[in-house]
Amino acid sequence: MAILSSDLRSKYLEFFRSKEHAVIESAPLVPENDPSVLFNTAGMQPLVPYLLGRPHPMGQRIADVQKCVRTGDIDDIGDNTHLSFFEMLGNWSLGDYFKKESIEWSYEFLTDPKWLGLNPSWLAVTVFEGDTNAPRDEESAAIWKSLGIPENRISYLPAEDNWWAAGPTGPCGPDTEIFYWVGEGEPDPESNVGKEPKKWMEIWNNVFMEYNRTAEGVLEKLPAQNVDTGMGLERITATLNHKKTVYETDIFADVLARIREIVGQSAYVERSARIIADHLRAATHMISDGVVPKNVDQGYILRRLVRRAIREFFKMGYERPVITEIAKIYIAKFRDVYQSIRMGADRILDELSKEEERFAKTLKNGLRELEKVSDQVDGKTAFDLFQTYGLPPEMIRDELATLGKPSFDQTEFDSEFSKHQDLSRAGSEQKFKGGLADTSDATVRLHSATHLMLDAMREILGEHVHQAGSNITVERLRFDFTHHEKLTEHEKQTIEARVNEAIRTGFATIVEQMPKDEARAQGVEGSFWEKYPEIVTVYTMRGVDGRVYSRELCGGPHVESSEGMGTFRILKEEASSAGVRRIKAVLE
Ligand code: ALA
Repeated sequence: MAILSSDLRSKYLEFFRSKEHAVIESAPLVPENDPSVLFNTAGMQPLVPYLLGRPHPMGQRIADVQKCVRTGDIDDIGDNTHLSFFEMLGNWSLGDYFKKESIEWSYEFLTDPKWLGLNPSWLAVTVFEGDTNAPRDEESAAIWKSLGIPENRISYLPAEDNWWAAGPTGPCGPDTEIFYWVGEGEPDPESNVGKEPKKWMEIWNNVFMEYNRTAEGVLEKLPAQNVDTGMGLERITATLNHKKTVYETDIFADVLARIREIVGQSAYVERSARIIADHLRAATHMISDGVVPKNVDQGYILRRLVRRAIREFFKMGYERPVITEIAKIYIAKFRDVYQSIRMGADRILDELSKEEERFAKTLKNGLRELEKVSDQVDGKTAFDLFQTYGLPPEMIRDELATLGKPSFDQTEFDSEFSKHQDLSRAGSEQKFKGGLADTSDATVRLHSATHLMLDAMREILGEHVHQAGSNITVERLRFDFTHHEKLTEHEKQTIEARVNEAIRTGFATIVEQMPKDEARAQGVEGSFWEKYPEIVTVYTMRGVDGRVYSRELCGGPHVESSEGMGTFRILKEEASSAGVRRIKAVLE
């Protein structure tokens, strides 16, 4: 009988709940206050501050299903394994249990008939073989053996395989990985991952995060020994169903069937349908978390995914507006899993239709132009085609291949692209290489200024003003808020004055934890309530004169006091999307 992804998701959380883990909501796809990545690329990313030592309000044992996006391999999507959006099942020990419980619980979840009931002889594991950074992980190997995993099924592999880090800096450590047999027939008793890697599929990664890599590249011990595990829901669903690809599971099968129905059996092309299914699933989630199609940042990725999906429909001869049909299937699938989807349903359909219309307007001219210049498309020309006609780079490459013309240099495209981006540090593409939450003093100060500013706005503009998005770099804050009109000069000056008054008067930040309902009842300001756990952290900035300058739900971090914050100044205020304004400001 088919194993359903929805059952795996709920069983996993139920299991870790039974092991006293607090189950938390997925953080939004777009990291808040973290300029180093465009999207969360691993379950641990929103938890980085806690892995680095900050106490988590929900305790030391956490489990969740985190929405993630990785688009580094966008050209491979449509094959059996690559996906742009995925859900990561994860459990964490923040300085609580370590190798023993982590491995034992993984084994129990996988093999106990009460949970997944997998045959242990279909499992193999890898452990870190050791190098100058950390010793050979005999401890993990011994735990595996004590559970009955035979010596022969344990492979010791180098850092390349068994050391995990999200990016060049930040928490990291050796890992032990669990694999499931995907070879022909019954598993060969002599086989293991080291000897026959192709016959085994990784299903779970348990990282023993006890190190931190500093910006200078030095490995230092973290204040506590943590565990970070990750199990890709799509991959485990396909593997346990003995399918070569996730497109044959409940995650995508119905979507492919619908695409087949829409374009008709004779026009149907499997690869095109897979690209559409993958891209629109990612797009649905991105829009639900507030991303809109644009030529920069997250919006650029969204635009590429949506346009490519539309183009794949065109390739199958279908040219009528259609992508909302597919998004509706995803909305139905995910509405009970993620509140963002439930709340954002109308917005998702609206943004997709608008983008489909916009694209239809420019596409024909774009393709005509591309055909004209197809003999000499270099990175710069490709970028110009993107800027002028909205043809995403992979589509240009695809067209050139169809025309039998040579492709362009992606690096050249990227360098043109980054010249045009409003990005303070890394180019959009580079951001996918990963990175970590930036908690430098400058960003923390700007984050606290954001709270003061929101409070001032609510006082001056009205209580309809809430946060719609936030992005902070070391140089500036950028804040989206719900408001319909352009701010007047007077309003901007009053907001500035109110923030500067708080700083000049002097305030201290008080951190409290309380049940979510109580926070709501006390009128604490917050948006995205659904993403917060039942017990929330409230940050209050209380002036030395006793006045409350801000009281807001947040994950922090914030300044302890106003000391050294400088002077707040608004740089710019403009429209962002319907009913949402965007403000940029600095502390000088
Ligand atoms: N952070 C680890 C991963 O993503 C668990 O594989």
